[in-house]
Amino acid sequence: MSTVKNAALLFMGRNVVRLQALLGDPAGRLFGTDPTRDPYPEFERVRGRGVLVRSRMGLYLTASHSLSSSLLRDPGFGTLAPNALSPVDSVAHIGGRRLVNPVEESFLVLNPPEHTRLRRLVAPWFTPRGLRAQEATVERVVEEYLDEVAERPTFDLVRDFAMRVPIQVIADLLGVPGADHAAFSRWGSSLVKAIDGVRDLGEMRELHRSLREFDEFLGDLVEHRRREPGPDDVVSALVAREDLSREDLIATTELLLVAGFETTVNLIGNAVLAVLGEPEVRERLLADPAHAEAVVEEALRFDPPVQYTVRVPFESTEVAGTRVPKGTPIMMLIGGANRDPEVFADPHRFTPGRPDVREHLSFSSGVHYCLGAGLARMEAAAALRGLFRRFPDLRAAGPVTRRPSRAIRGAARIPVTTGVRKRHTMVETIG
Ligand code: HEM
Repeated sequence: MSTVKNAALLFMGRNVVRLQALLGDPAGRLFGTDPTRDPYPEFERVRGRGVLVRSRMGLYLTASHSLSSSLLRDPGFGTLAPNALSPVDSVAHIGGRRLVNPVEESFLVLNPPEHTRLRRLVAPWFTPRGLRAQEATVERVVEEYLDEVAERPTFDLVRDFAMRVPIQVIADLLGVPGADHAAFSRWGSSLVKAIDGVRDLGEMRELHRSLREFDEFLGDLVEHRRREPGPDDVVSALVAREDLSREDLIATTELLLVAGFETTVNLIGNAVLAVLGEPEVRERLLADPAHAEAVVEEALRFDPPVQYTVRVPFESTEVAGTRVPKGTPIMMLIGGANRDPEVFADPHRFTPGRPDVREHLSFSSGVHYCLGAGLARMEAAAALRGLFRRFPDLRAAGPVTRRPSRAIRGAARIPVTTGVRKRHTMVETIG
């Protein structure tokens, strides 16, 4: 698609959404307003309008837990690439070859049986046995980055810690030597921005640049692992398979990489923000580090990093008393479903240890249930335990900056102070 046509579509698309926001359309109000704004009042408005709410923008929305959960598990419904809701064509090429976009082409957005075939290839690393093998790596990585930030009295919890832990863990799992954290975070953030819908030509160019760099990096990694296979990493195992196309190999590896850190960073950040804001939760965590698991689970429910997902019916069907035509997107507002009072008592309160917390839909449900849920839980609990054990007096040291995204909820910056004064070394003292 030409740049001029894309620019025109972007301009029109943005203004249509803004106009619908002004007219009070539920999808317009979610997507046509400041993406850093608290989304939870908006989810309550959707709930107040009914179980299934129609938007003039050609889709339906639901904040109902029971409807979301049943649609996610219904084989009559399938996935829709998140970017499919955007008017622009975000396909990028390199030397005439089309570049793979993991958010649009990996098994995350495929339906069975293709989905099943690809998911099975990488599932062994995420079984309870696979996870046990990663426990020591996770603990080591957490301690390594805590050692680094301990050198400074203040740091950015997101960039300097919450982002680094999951990037390193997933890099080790995939078999990436000397992971370039800055490049990963750049690629991840432009792919995630695209889920919200590319907003201008600058963002589109950034997305294309990231896809190109990502493709080149993975091409090199695949070659490296063909020559020098590692003992138990994902890429070495995938390159050894002859029944896997280059596109599927790249899309699967990119999916794991991006899904592995772009979400977990926000879980760690959201959990730390909850602890900083709730003195009783901090006290309990300091007294009993094992409480970190309950805090993480409640953080998942209360402030889910993935805020919505979309499904479409394969055939025209009845949903909550409404006839929904084949292929019409239904957006399940995970953040709203997780605060449905029909399931969670006092849903707007952060209450670690609530008995039904595992009912949350933060890792989705059905065949696309998050493959990395166990790993994410393990990483976030280890991060929280390690952080507050090392810095029991950790405090906010400035305003939190929110990520400008509706799809992914989290902080871009959380300045913190450790409350630990740096000890002078002998040399510094004498000098
Ligand atoms: C807090 C962290 C995480 C959250 C909130 C999260 C959330 C999700 C959600 C909501 C889905 C399903 C989307 C849908 O149904 O449309 C999903 C799928 C997926 N996640 Fe996660 N995720 C997290 C961490 C991870 C990690 C650490 C990995 C891997 C290392 C991972 C790998 C995947 C994969 C491969 C899928 C696709 C599963 C499929 O389509 O069968 N995720 N995740």
